[in-house]
Amino acid sequence: MARVYQELEQALPGLSKAVYSQPADSLAAPKVAVRPVSVKGGLQYQIETFRDNKAYHRNVAAEELLLIAEKELEGRYRQVLLVSSRESAQYVLRQRGDYKKSSSSPSLPRPGGLESHNKAKEYILREGENIPALVDLGIFTQDFKIVRSRYDKYKQINRFIELVDQELKDYQGKEISILDFGCGKSYLTFLLYYYFAVKRGMEARIIGYDLKAEVVENCNRIAEKYGYDRLRFEKADVSRDLLSNEHIDMVVTLHACDTATDFALNYALSHGVKYIFSVPCCQHEINGSIHKGGELDILLQHGIIRERICALLTDSIRGAVLQSRGYDLDVIEFIDFEHSPKNIMLRARYSGKCLRKSLKQALELREKYGFSQKLLELQYPEECGK
Ligand SMILES: C[S@@+](CC[C@H](N)C(=O)[O-])C[C@H]1O[C@@H](n2cnc3c(N)ncnc32)[C@H](O)[C@@H]1O
Repeated sequence: MARVYQELEQALPGLSKAVYSQPADSLAAPKVAVRPVSVKGGLQYQIETFRDNKAYHRNVAAEELLLIAEKELEGRYRQVLLVSSRESAQYVLRQRGDYKKSSSSPSLPRPGGLESHNKAKEYILREGENIPALVDLGIFTQDFKIVRSRYDKYKQINRFIELVDQELKDYQGKEISILDFGCGKSYLTFLLYYYFAVKRGMEARIIGYDLKAEVVENCNRIAEKYGYDRLRFEKADVSRDLLSNEHIDMVVTLHACDTATDFALNYALSHGVKYIFSVPCCQHEINGSIHKGGELDILLQHGIIRERICALLTDSIRGAVLQSRGYDLDVIEFIDFEHSPKNIMLRARYSGKCLRKSLKQALELREKYGFSQKLLELQYPEECGK
């Protein structure tokens, strides 16, 4: 049984922020945030209260803050986040009025912090870290050890988060919205939520899309269980269903089958999404449509070589389309081959600088070898005669 005001008292010496959200009674402000501030050289705490889309500020000393936390805030918010130098912890209000610690992790050093460059890698997702959703998903055992047979998956999602962390280290926004296309059992989706909402204390809004109703239901159940109210899953065919029309900052795909990746990238390009992290797989489309027609014929003679060449060609064309639409692109070996042969990541960030040289080559190759490539056709229908 936890009292959050007592936890706040414990966290106070190294507190970097506290956020009370999801009011449980109608008179409470929608959100209250607390952060330490220096006032005339002394330490105080700024209480930021949000009402009617406006923020109101009040600076108080530690004793007054604890009094307010106990008398005015305790039990009135369904969710509380406490971030201190020691840990980042999330609490969920239970029906009987006390709080349950729904997740916690050692604090992540931010840029400029004391440990900013040395051990960042180790901090992302450690074995033993209290991430209960991973137990439900079968990646961790009850005591947060990695389930042996899930080790490759664990490595993959860990690495994915590391690559996101590298790219968004300097991201200053307090909110982030993400879509995961073909989320499946959603190990990655949960981890992204955990990373942004719990570790970084941000307002993370994430939707995972998948064709399978059963996995979607299960994931929604787990998200609800841990009070992850802004993480939700929807059954959708990303190639044709209506998807979010809200502002989205990031699109991710991890092994979304074949052209589902193209629809994800197409969504990102058409909706002005700034960040893209995409690890494709089963790139069958070109392999199924390419015919011999020139200098590359030698690469198309043997099934296994043809398959690999077509997969590489698919991702090269996707990269060329991204660059032509103003994205800076890194093509990264996502994970060692031994952990997954589907190990290329396209990591892109919108910069507005459009490079069209590779696109021209892609269109010429398409013309010469007669293949279909979904993203190319979705983005350049006229040039593809569509
Ligand atoms: C190989 S699984 C990967 C799941 C998950 N991202 C992961 O890495 O564990 C691919 C998922 O993509 C989903 N998928 C394939 N085509 C899709 C489509 N058109 N729309 C939505 N989901 C799709 C499948 O149902 C499947 O769950």
